Amino acid sequence: MPTTPLPHRIQSFQEYREVYARSVADPEGFWAEQARTFRWHTGWGRVLDWNFEEPRVRWFEGATLNITENCLDRHLDERGDQTAILFEPNEPDDPVVKLTYRELHAEVGRVGNALRELGVGKGDRVCFYMPMVVELAVSVLACARIGAIHSVVFAGFSAQALADRVNDADCSLIICSDYNRRGSKNIPVKAVVDDALALGCPSVRNVLVHRNTGEEIAWNKGTDVWYHERVEGQSSSCAAEVMGAEDVLFILYTSGSTGKPKGVVHTCGGYMVYTAFSFLNVFQYQPGDVYWCTADIGWITGHSYILYGPLLCGATTVMFEGVPTYPDAGRFWQVCAKHHVNQFYTAPTAIRALMARGHKFVEGHDLSDLKVLGSVGEPINEEAWEWYHDYVGQGRVPIVDTWWQTETGGMMISGLGGLSPQKATFAGYPLPGIQMALVDKESGQELTGNPESGLLCVKFPWPSILRTTWCDHERCRTTYFTTVPGMYFTGDGARRDAEGMYRIVGRVDDVINVSGHRMGTAEVENAINEHGQVVESAVVGYPHAIKGQGIYAYVIVADGVPADDRLREEIVAMVRQEIGPIAKPDKIQFVAELPKTRSGKIMRRILRKVASGETEQLGDTSTLLNPEAVEQVIAGVV
Ligand code: WTA
Repeated sequence: MPTTPLPHRIQSFQEYREVYARSVADPEGFWAEQARTFRWHTGWGRVLDWNFEEPRVRWFEGATLNITENCLDRHLDERGDQTAILFEPNEPDDPVVKLTYRELHAEVGRVGNALRELGVGKGDRVCFYMPMVVELAVSVLACARIGAIHSVVFAGFSAQALADRVNDADCSLIICSDYNRRGSKNIPVKAVVDDALALGCPSVRNVLVHRNTGEEIAWNKGTDVWYHERVEGQSSSCAAEVMGAEDVLFILYTSGSTGKPKGVVHTCGGYMVYTAFSFLNVFQYQPGDVYWCTADIGWITGHSYILYGPLLCGATTVMFEGVPTYPDAGRFWQVCAKHHVNQFYTAPTAIRALMARGHKFVEGHDLSDLKVLGSVGEPINEEAWEWYHDYVGQGRVPIVDTWWQTETGGMMISGLGGLSPQKATFAGYPLPGIQMALVDKESGQELTGNPESGLLCVKFPWPSILRTTWCDHERCRTTYFTTVPGMYFTGDGARRDAEGMYRIVGRVDDVINVSGHRMGTAEVENAINEHGQVVESAVVGYPHAIKGQGIYAYVIVADGVPADDRLREEIVAMVRQEIGPIAKPDKIQFVAELPKTRSGKIMRRILRKVASGETEQLGDTSTLLNPEAVEQVIAGVV
C-alpha cells in the first residue's frame, strides 16, 4: 500500500538547527519541498512573490488544488478505515462518534452537494454559528470542497456581533444548530441567528439548521431549511472545486486595537502547507497517535489544529463538545485516559481553572499515553506551567508553549515536542521558515543581540501569513505593516534570552487577552457607550488569577444618574448584547473624569496601572490636562 507523503518531520534538536538554517538560506526551496508532498492539480510558477509595503504575499501562485482532497481523498488508500474525527460528547455516557477518513470523505461530499443545491458556489461566503458538533467540522470542510469561503463565528458571540460579521462578509448562508449543549445547560443557538437576522442581514438567503438537541425553535418558512433534510439522500461523491493556491479559503474575524473586528483572510495553498508542517513538527505526530486540541473551531486554533493541520497529516483528531469542568474538573483527564490521547493541546486559562480545583482531579486517570502537552493563546505563568508539567505530564511529558496568532495561520514560536530545550514561560525558538525580529520601540531599529527585549516582528513571509483583511486591504497594511516598516508587526512584546529563546511578554497595543480570547478595548468601550446614561468609558486589562487578564472599565455617567449596582448590571447587559458574555467587564468603576493628555487622549497607561494596583509607580503625570483625575481614580478603585 502506498504511504501518503507528508512534510518533513524533524527528529532531533540538532536537525532543527540545520533545517532552520536551510529554511532561512533558501525559503523558496525549503517550502517548495514541503509543498511537493501534497496533491496539486497543476504546479506553481514562482514559489514566492512578496513585498511587505503593499503588502503583497503570494505563495505557489499559479498552482491549483483543493485542500479537502489533501485532508481526505489522498488518505483513503492508506487509512480509509482509520478514525479521522473522534467526537467526545458533552455527556460522558453518551455515545462517542467516530468518523473514519472514508466516512468523513463521504459525509463532506453529501454536505458539499447539499450546499451546491442551495446555490452556494465558489467564492460565496458561508457563516457558521454552531457548537462543537461533528456537523460543524463536516460542513466547514464541505465549504472548502466546493470553494465557498467559510467564516466561522464563535457561538458565544451575541446576535449583534454575529450580524456585524455576516454583513461585513455578505454571507449568503448561515449554518447553525438549534441548541448548544454546554455542561448542564442547553443554550439557544438558532434563536441568536434569528435575532441577528432581525437586526438586518440583507445578504442572507438561507439558514441551514442542524438538529442537535431537538428542542423547539422558531421557524422562518422563507429562509430556514433543515440540515438533515437537505443532506440525506445526497450522493457522497462531490467533485472538488479546483482552487488557485491564492484563492481565499476562509475569513476569521478577530479583534484589534481599533474599531470593529476585522476579517483575517487566509488562502488555500500556503495555509495548507504551513498548518500541516507545523502540526507534524510541533506535536511530533506519528501515525496512529490520538491527538486532542480542546479549542473551539470558532477560533483560529480550532481551524488550524483541530481540522486542517491534523487531517492533512492523516491524524485522529478529537473534537470535544463539552467544558473542562463538567461533570467535574477531571473531565479533560478522564477523556485523555478514555481515548488514550497522545498529544494534548489546551490554553493556560483552562490549566489555571483546573489547577484551582486541586490535583486530586488529575489523580486516578491513566495519562501514560501522553507524549506531548501543548499550550496556546496567552502567556503561561510559571505556576501553571509547573502544575501542567508535574501533575498532567507527571514530570515526564514535554510541554510545547506555542506562540502564534489568527493572522499567522499557524504556530510560529514553539518547542518541537520532546526535541527542544524547554524553559517554563518561554515559548522557545521560531519554527523553520519563521524569521522573527525584536525591534526597539523608540528607534524602530532591529535588536540583533541576546538577551534583548522589544516589539515582536517577523521579517520575511511564511506560507500561512494573512493575505489581507476582508474588503479592507488598507486596514491590513496600517495595522500590521506600518509600525515597523518592512516587517510584519505582531502587536506583542517579547524578550529573547542569552540562548535566543523567546518569551512573550504580552500585547503592547490596546488588545487584551481574556481567558485566551482577544478583545479590543475600543470594542468593549463602544459597547458600554451604547448605554444611554454613559457619557464616556475607558477599558483596560488587569491581571486576573484564572483568566490571565480581566476587563476593567472606568465609566463616566451622565449628570444626576445614580452610579450604583443596578447601572453596573445594565452596563454588563449592554456588553453581552453588543459583543457577548466573553467581553463583559469584571470590574466597573464610576469616575467623574478620565485622566487625559492635553491633546485629549485618555492616558491608558495610568489607568492600566491603577487597575493593576500599581499606584506607586504611575510614571510621569505632568503632561496631563487634569492631574487631579488621577487621585480620584485611585481613590475609587474597585
Ligand atoms: C497571545 C491564538 C503568549 C498573543 C493562537 C497573540 C500568546 C494573541 C501565546 C493571538 C503564547 C497566543 N504565549 N502569548 N503561547 N499564544 N498568545 O489571534 O498576545 O486568538 O498576539 O490566536 O494571543 O491571539 P489569537
